[in-house]
Amino acid sequence: MAAERIDGKRIAAETRAEIAEKVAAMKAGGVTPGLAVVIVGENPASQVYVRNKHKACGEVGMYSEVIELPEATTEDELLSVLAKLNERADIDGILVQLPLPKHISEEKVIHAIRPDKDVDAFHPFNTGKLMIGNPDFLPCTPAGVMVMLEKSGVNVTGKNCVVVGRSNIVGKPMALLLLAANGTVTVCHSKTPDLAAVTREADILVVAIGRADFITGDMIKPGAVVIDVGMNRRADGKLTGDVDFASASEVASMITPVPGGVGPMTITMLLENTLRAAALHHK
Ligand code: GUN
Repeated sequence: MAAERIDGKRIAAETRAEIAEKVAAMKAGGVTPGLAVVIVGENPASQVYVRNKHKACGEVGMYSEVIELPEATTEDELLSVLAKLNERADIDGILVQLPLPKHISEEKVIHAIRPDKDVDAFHPFNTGKLMIGNPDFLPCTPAGVMVMLEKSGVNVTGKNCVVVGRSNIVGKPMALLLLAANGTVTVCHSKTPDLAAVTREADILVVAIGRADFITGDMIKPGAVVIDVGMNRRADGKLTGDVDFASASEVASMITPVPGGVGPMTITMLLENTLRAAALHHK
């Protein structure tokens, strides 16, 4: 039987409607949550992401400001932009779109964002708080996956959860969130021997390895829940995930499509974090 589709677009729309209500209540109390998005250079994919973030803020009633800096911006110039945003009372959240030009240190930039405005949750203060189970902000993509599981009635407690990929943005924090939800978690990656033997044990399989159609139906346990975080462009121009949807959906019980799965949830969680930052700033 074909797997049930987990509809990220629908879940994102529902969650954004809830956020819009909370923004309206906050505005009635005189506070408008504000997000600053900084982009350096002209990476076309980054420009699309930034535009979508700005638009999403407007749709839930938040203030947002896009700061576009030229490719030649120096590290010091960017750091001084961030220092000003750190001090502004109307800006609750700050996001610097990655990747940055090669002459700018991502690490220095991430460290320069005030942790209480770090709505990406990339600052070591926030990754540390996540590690010890006391986070202020959850990293957007993994948090979006957890909301999708919850809203699809998937209980993580006691389940074998396998995360494929170990990036700082997705794989590692994903493992921590599944662990916090009482899953038994395995992280595997490109150097794992016999990866299929590991993925076949997963009741919940989250894939974020960045390779098109990498996980096929024969690597999935019958009845598993499959979450595809991948976003790859095929030679024919079509978007595809890290999971081969056709073969996987013959085996899984539930699966996220690409596009229309995890993608719409990531920006939703950014809105959630901005709201949270505003609440922290106006206690
Ligand atoms: N580039 C790709 N994904 C992300 C993200 O989640 N946050 C930021 N700041 N940049 C990104």
